[in-house]
Amino acid sequence: MNTYSRFPLVLEKGEGAFVYSSDGKKYLDFVAGIAANSLGHAHEKLVAALSEQVTQLIHVSNLYWNKPAVELASRLVKNSPFDKAFFCNSGAEAIEGCLKLARINASKSGTGRFGIVAMKNSFHGRTFAAVRATGQLKYQEGFAPHFPGISHAEFNDLASLESSVDASTCAILIEPVQGEGGIRPATKEFLEGARKICDRDGISLIFDEVQCGVGRTGKFFAFENYGVVPDAIALAKGLGGGVPIGAVLAVKDLAKAFEPGNHASTFGGNALSAAAGNVVTQELWENGLLEHVAKVGEFLTQKLSGLKEKYPAVLDNRGIGLLQGIELSVPAAPIIAECIEKGLLLVNAGTNVIRFVPPLIVTEDEISQGIEILESALEKI
Ligand SMILES: Cc1ncc(COP(=O)(O)O)c(C=O)c1O
Repeated sequence: MNTYSRFPLVLEKGEGAFVYSSDGKKYLDFVAGIAANSLGHAHEKLVAALSEQVTQLIHVSNLYWNKPAVELASRLVKNSPFDKAFFCNSGAEAIEGCLKLARINASKSGTGRFGIVAMKNSFHGRTFAAVRATGQLKYQEGFAPHFPGISHAEFNDLASLESSVDASTCAILIEPVQGEGGIRPATKEFLEGARKICDRDGISLIFDEVQCGVGRTGKFFAFENYGVVPDAIALAKGLGGGVPIGAVLAVKDLAKAFEPGNHASTFGGNALSAAAGNVVTQELWENGLLEHVAKVGEFLTQKLSGLKEKYPAVLDNRGIGLLQGIELSVPAAPIIAECIEKGLLLVNAGTNVIRFVPPLIVTEDEISQGIEILESALEKI
């Protein structure tokens, strides 16, 4: 269906941080499937694990256990403040899972609470509840009547959050770094304040780390940059290195609200996607990839902050690790088109922001190559 405005480009194969189009042209890929291909393309260990897994089992449903899913859940729990995992297939589905968990927890505790306070300018996905939680009206137009019980506070504004939470609220939903909304990191004060409100009122703090989680900021969870721990978190995108998987992780007091029959997904945590998740999480936690992201992320930050002095059209640079953006005084689209022409794939985050989400395995040399192409496009405006 006519849901996408695609670039006139057919991508056929990839290797590391590069992809090749059907006409043989080579591109440096700073989009990485929109922050999903965490290990780049054709990563040796991912290819080996998936190839092996398809010879054993792809899918059996959640009527039974499968070893890769148990291994992934165990690693996620062992390395985090969370106690339980629920697997699904996408970011929107992980958000739905978090919201359903918060509501059923409030319902089972008999609080009478049901409301979700999300943030303006946020993005949480395209399903009915997720798109309603998304704090940008353009994504909701034409889909009324909207999913009920969701309101919005100003991002990074504690007074606004405080006044949006009332006796009906059961959860606060925040992206620690807003992605689609223009690569805007939360302030530490804001996340700490949200945590305090949730503790005071006995409600759930939910972080959407679909884009900013799974190593993208140089820490496995973006919230580790802030020292603020939520009660539940939504993960997806990078967790499968390009294979569709989503996850809800939650602390036990909240997770226990789900009992058999309350929530489910046919494909969630199937053997193939979990095998992919195992490679990604091993690379990050056990094989030094997190440290690599922190280092090259610093390098990317330096390169991007240097652009402001050189090009008047570059107003700002923001982000953490390998989730970065530059804000322009002009639309991003023509510059992105020029970069594609010159062999660099980039994606916008809102009209005036160019987003940088290369694969986590990107090298400093590849970042320098990308910035050189970007500069040659910026010189033309
Ligand atoms: C922060 C955030 N949450 C949720 C989603 C929705 O994820 P999906 O497209 O996998 O449903 C996205 C997608 O861009 C996202 O960036």
